[in-house]
Amino acid sequence: MNASVQPVYDVERIRADFPILAQQHRGKPLVFLDSGASAQKPRQVIEAMVRCMEERYANVHRGAYRLSEASTADYEAARAAVARFVNAADPREVIFTTNSTAAINLVAHSWGRGVLKPGQAVLVSEMEHHANLVPWHMLRDEGRGIELRICRVTDAGELDLDDLEAKLADGKVGLVAVTHMSNVLGTVTPAERIVAMAHAKGAKVLLDGSQAAVHRRVDMQALGADFYVFTGHKLYGPTGIGVLWARLEHQERMPPFLGGGDMIASVTLEGSTWAEPPAKFEAGTPPIVEAVGLHAAIDYVSAIGMPALEAHERSLVDHAMRRFSDIEGLTLLGRAQDRGGVFSFALDNAHPHDLATLLDRAGIAVRAGRHCAEPLHARFGLEGGTCRASFGLYTTQGEIDYLAEALTKAREFFA
Ligand code: ALA
Repeated sequence: MNASVQPVYDVERIRADFPILAQQHRGKPLVFLDSGASAQKPRQVIEAMVRCMEERYANVHRGAYRLSEASTADYEAARAAVARFVNAADPREVIFTTNSTAAINLVAHSWGRGVLKPGQAVLVSEMEHHANLVPWHMLRDEGRGIELRICRVTDAGELDLDDLEAKLADGKVGLVAVTHMSNVLGTVTPAERIVAMAHAKGAKVLLDGSQAAVHRRVDMQALGADFYVFTGHKLYGPTGIGVLWARLEHQERMPPFLGGGDMIASVTLEGSTWAEPPAKFEAGTPPIVEAVGLHAAIDYVSAIGMPALEAHERSLVDHAMRRFSDIEGLTLLGRAQDRGGVFSFALDNAHPHDLATLLDRAGIAVRAGRHCAEPLHARFGLEGGTCRASFGLYTTQGEIDYLAEALTKAREFFA
């Protein structure tokens, strides 16, 4: 370990909050390096959800009795907490969905079908995960005259801004939908610059913050995008809840996506009128317990501080770069200047699934495959996939050392 790298918070104390991290796996301490797929949960989140169900649970927005009022207050407090967390101008800009995928599908179905015009294009990039690609394929394939354009990624794994500019040039792009941080390359994209370039050509911007919102402070008013999505389960919260942040002016123009209870103003047998945003986009019983859990997760990371999380991660990234560059036969995907704690790699002669299985025997959990990003793997000629180690706020430099040692041994095994 490099003695000059100081931890920015007491990681061991943080780890004690995560019950699952105390597990032994195959007689070895669990080294969980798959937080990019889904992060572990601190006791504070688990307890908040149990408390909700044991003490304050009822359906929301529907009851005039004490428990329903308490539950409604908790659900709306979660919305306000999300709004503060991302510095939204108004809590009504926060729509709860079930995850990032649902949030992007909501935009594609509602804004894509209701506001985008025939002859306009959606511009995505080669580094999108499937959630920010497939909904746009589906929209294009409906024959509405909506084109799909793809911004290239450089060999270093960065967004090719010259290509972005060229593909925006004719003014036909209605929406730029790109990741704020790649789940494969770790690349953090220059979001403010992308927003400025897109807006200059009349295009709106959707940023997929599934990874970025976990790793750094994201500020809706500073970023200036039109839509921003992220998910609870990667942010140390529960599954089943995600966020679509959308400017009110867009929500007002968007038709509903799902119809049902709670999203209506009135219903007759003949027809319905819609509730005001954001209720218009939250049909049916929402994820109430999950909203409470997400609120607790936001409180948890906010108490540590997003700048401290970011600094911790930066020290891990620097350490990992040093350790991984020493391993012969290891190819790292992406060398972006601005990157977060996600490393996808291939080891000579080793199929990623075999490598992940070998690492699992050492107690190390990594993801293997194409990480819901097949086109990006194809871009780098790695159709067979890679292994991916992704860090969380509880990851230690010792765990990265342990992975590096296991990879060195694996190299001998597969030689
Ligand atoms: N998109 C998630 C990942 O990167 C599931 O693993």
